[in-house]
Amino acid sequence: MTITEEIQSLKKEKNAVILAHYYVRPEVQEIADYIGDSYYLSKIATELKEQTIVFCGVSFMGESAKILNPDKTILMPDREADCPMAHMADAAMIQEMREKYQDLAVVCYINSTAELKRHSDVCVTSANALKIVKALPNQNIFFIPDKNLAHFIAEQVPEKHFIYNDGYCPTHDRMQEKEIRSTMAEHPAAQVLAHPECPASVLDLADYVGSTSGILKYAAESSCKEFIICTEEGVAYELRKRNPDKQFYFTETIPICPDMKTITLEKILRVLESGDGEVHIDTQLREQSKLSLERMLELAR
Ligand code: 13P
Ligand code: SF4
Repeated sequence: MTITEEIQSLKKEKNAVILAHYYVRPEVQEIADYIGDSYYLSKIATELKEQTIVFCGVSFMGESAKILNPDKTILMPDREADCPMAHMADAAMIQEMREKYQDLAVVCYINSTAELKRHSDVCVTSANALKIVKALPNQNIFFIPDKNLAHFIAEQVPEKHFIYNDGYCPTHDRMQEKEIRSTMAEHPAAQVLAHPECPASVLDLADYVGSTSGILKYAAESSCKEFIICTEEGVAYELRKRNPDKQFYFTETIPICPDMKTITLEKILRVLESGDGEVHIDTQLREQSKLSLERMLELAR
């Protein structure tokens, strides 16, 4: 049996389903039952009938799935795969802002620890942040942890007052205007599609800014045939699969999230065989952090 066949047969035997983010390796996306962006994956995790979910992504994704589905078994092929940005805010800062600003909403990007979610009013992803921030009755918005997404949303909601935090995604934040301009010079007919985790200097060059699913949708619907993609390179697998007639380019320094790439077929097989890599969250933390995630699902609907 090939490793893929072994995974498929164990999956059936264990009543398991495999979820994967667009940033994981192509061979992992290929065996996944559901592939998507952070919003889609958190939503679909609440709709599955299987008892076990193998979550091919980073820690906050498996944690969110467990928080929303406490009775399910969530297995992560690599428990060390973590998003550095998820830790780039703290509860003390939230408390300080709550004391300083009346009418404050703490809006927490889903790329965050359960501890941060517990202290927040609502979670968002890049696919629904604008809709949710607009729907909030609050005037003051403390947006954690991502400063780039915060600035991108704030520009579109000038009627609200934003307070920024200093977090960022190391993979997206290091993307440089200079490199994008030189890729644009090489491919003058290409449109630039960027993820809002990129710095403002990059977003200013973009024809479209959106989540990974947004980028996929835009590329499929556009009459343009060439695109410069400013997000993690894993998305190229689905872009090329859906659009075999179109060309996708990346900057010379290819944006790669090292944590997403630690997920391999071998690790998926191992957790299915052994049950290792299970996500456990303390009951009180789970109950408290669930509120901001559920509010996101409700407001994004
Ligand atoms: P989306 O999948 O929501 O676009 O987010 C990108 C990301 O960085 C996930 O870690
Ligand atoms: Fe975190 Fe960035 Fe990796 Fe996404 S791409 S998991 S935001 S480090």
